[in-house]
Amino acid sequence: MMSKIAVIPGDGIGKEVAPEGAKLLEQLSSARGLGLELEFFDYGADRYLKDGTTLPPEQLEAFRRDYRAILFGAVGDPRVPDSRHAREILLALRFQLDLYVNLRPVRLLADRFSPLVGKGRKEIDGVFFRENTEGVYVDVGGNFKQGTADEIAITEDVNSRKGVERICRAALDWARKHGEKTVWMSDKSNAMRHAGGLWQRVWKELARDYPDLELRHMYVDVLAMQMVLRPELFRVVVTNNLFGDILTDLGAGISGGLGFSASANLNPGKIGLFEPVHGSAPDIVGTGKANPIATFLTCALLLEHLGHDAEARIVEKAVDLAVAENVLTPDVGGSRTTSEVSEFVRAQVARL
Ligand code: NAI
Ligand code: MG
Repeated sequence: MMSKIAVIPGDGIGKEVAPEGAKLLEQLSSARGLGLELEFFDYGADRYLKDGTTLPPEQLEAFRRDYRAILFGAVGDPRVPDSRHAREILLALRFQLDLYVNLRPVRLLADRFSPLVGKGRKEIDGVFFRENTEGVYVDVGGNFKQGTADEIAITEDVNSRKGVERICRAALDWARKHGEKTVWMSDKSNAMRHAGGLWQRVWKELARDYPDLELRHMYVDVLAMQMVLRPELFRVVVTNNLFGDILTDLGAGISGGLGFSASANLNPGKIGLFEPVHGSAPDIVGTGKANPIATFLTCALLLEHLGHDAEARIVEKAVDLAVAENVLTPDVGGSRTTSEVSEFVRAQVARL
């Protein structure tokens, strides 16, 4: 069976790292008969500035109908100050495809990348499930008496029972599939009674459906502290959109930074959107300094989504070898270029 994969490099270093990921997928597909059919799309700032195109609705429909995954680079360009094209491309994909799971692994690849290990801390190796369609990001609210001394700004935190339940189930199902025993749900139900109360009730109800798992809870402020003090505790964590945003940046900070951070936007069983967490990094475009590892780890998530778990593990092992031999870009203490790191990783994949 052929699997159609759309590749959207986007802007800036997205155009440098996404093609390297695509080459890796092509290589694995032909070596191991995966039947991946990659197709490139030029959506991004150049196209927008040329003819005003962001993401045509009929293309979005075609993605939904015929494709199994999108490998995305990054969007953001100084020539488009309001980032209109970025919103219309990336946010349209996330919202219109209803990709409610934002899955982010937080794995320390080597002790030297951690500000904590060696100070009595253990390494982190977890997967964070961030709700991706609700919360304070839905932009409900308003500014009242704006410009006066009595101004009030309100940003509503929107949580639906369906939305809370489906992200919690996604984390629990993932834990079951991967042999994990404990899943942490994190909220701020002591202060945010209405939203937190819903998360608490849903979590308690779900315990009945997952008797084989230990469903635990930790307030988000405490969890942030414990990620620093006892990072090894957190192997599966589920939380809302805002808390997930913050906790996963903390996770990136204690595991080597943006150059290593991968993510998947999923609606299980449907097309998924796979992207490194970093942006278009205009400050290093064209210098060969863009770290391609985040994109390779993103490709591993994409392969796993397609059911190619063995190939996903091969990619992770190849990345581990690049780390072990310090074949890395300057952001993580190496002295190699994007293409040197990429060629090394693909050479390891060919051997494994
Ligand atoms: P950024 O992630 O692009 O860069 C932050 C810093 O990290 C920069 O110093 C950059 O050089 C470095 N960096 C990021 N990725 C790297 C990599 N793979 N290798 C080596 N160094 C790396 O975030 P910033 O600067 O806030 O945003 C730049 C543009 O990207 C903006 O237009 C922003 O809107 C957009 N952006 C897009 C995202 C996306 O497409 N998902 C996510 C975040 C930002
Ligand atoms: Mg963020």
